[in-house]
Amino acid sequence: MPSPPLATRLAIAEAVAREAGALALRRFRKLETLTVERKGLQDVVSAADREVEGLIRARLAALLPEDAVLGEEQGLTEGSSDAVWVVDPIDGTWCFLNGIGTWCVAVACVIGGRTAVGVVFDPCSGEMFAAARGLGARLDGQRVRVAEARSLRDGTLGVGFSHRSRPEEVGPLITEVLAAGGMYHRHGSGALGLAWTACGRLIGYLEPHMNSWDCLAGLLLVEEAGGFANDFLAGEGLTEGNAVIAGPPEMRPLLEDLAGRHFHRVRQ
Ligand code: IPD
Ligand code: CA
Ligand code: CA
Repeated sequence: MPSPPLATRLAIAEAVAREAGALALRRFRKLETLTVERKGLQDVVSAADREVEGLIRARLAALLPEDAVLGEEQGLTEGSSDAVWVVDPIDGTWCFLNGIGTWCVAVACVIGGRTAVGVVFDPCSGEMFAAARGLGARLDGQRVRVAEARSLRDGTLGVGFSHRSRPEEVGPLITEVLAAGGMYHRHGSGALGLAWTACGRLIGYLEPHMNSWDCLAGLLLVEEAGGFANDFLAGEGLTEGNAVIAGPPEMRPLLEDLAGRHFHRVRQ
């Protein structure tokens, strides 16, 4: 079967993320009924994460059966096309399970080794962030652009951290941001932090290590909104993860310098 046009893949990603988000939101409203398992320090998985990934996989398998799917909870299902869907059913699970509404569904499609489609759906606000390579980035259908920021004083920097990284990678970095007259923000959902960077609410996003399902959609959103992103997929980025550095083009030297000095593993 010939590969569908990008606009079709984008429409599929949006529809699937919206349906998945609606299911996750129903579970969020009845948190007390969910069973939860611990994966690591401040790292948990609930029945909702598994159920929502199952829904995304079922929809993609029905619509595009030749494509591969890599999901946080069930790993890789091989395909026969050059497309891999990379999905995080609930990004921000820790917030989700603690009743905090900053979580989202993240769906990306990598074609021939490059991210081609990226969608971040925030069910609590109803906001849909969507991008396709060369077609721009949109928030609820309206084109968005990264912030016009040149220094840390021009806005708020998104900084992510998980216990896969070392505290020393972000503690001194945040100190430096504050000392320079800046401010930092952490959603507890890296995908949302990147989506907010794409639409100019944040003046960049830094995290020492993310997995591909956390960030590929958001990185494409930032690039398609006129920003820059590090070459996350370099090396084994798809399966092993990488550092994340993204933001407005004028912030690039500053953000690369911060990440280069503080993060243990940086590929740009
Ligand atoms: C995590 C969140 C968190 C980020 C981590 C991710 P999860 O994803 O995006 O904000 O700092 O790198 O692993 O576990 O909630 O899906
Ligand atoms: Ca995640
Ligand atoms: Ca997740």
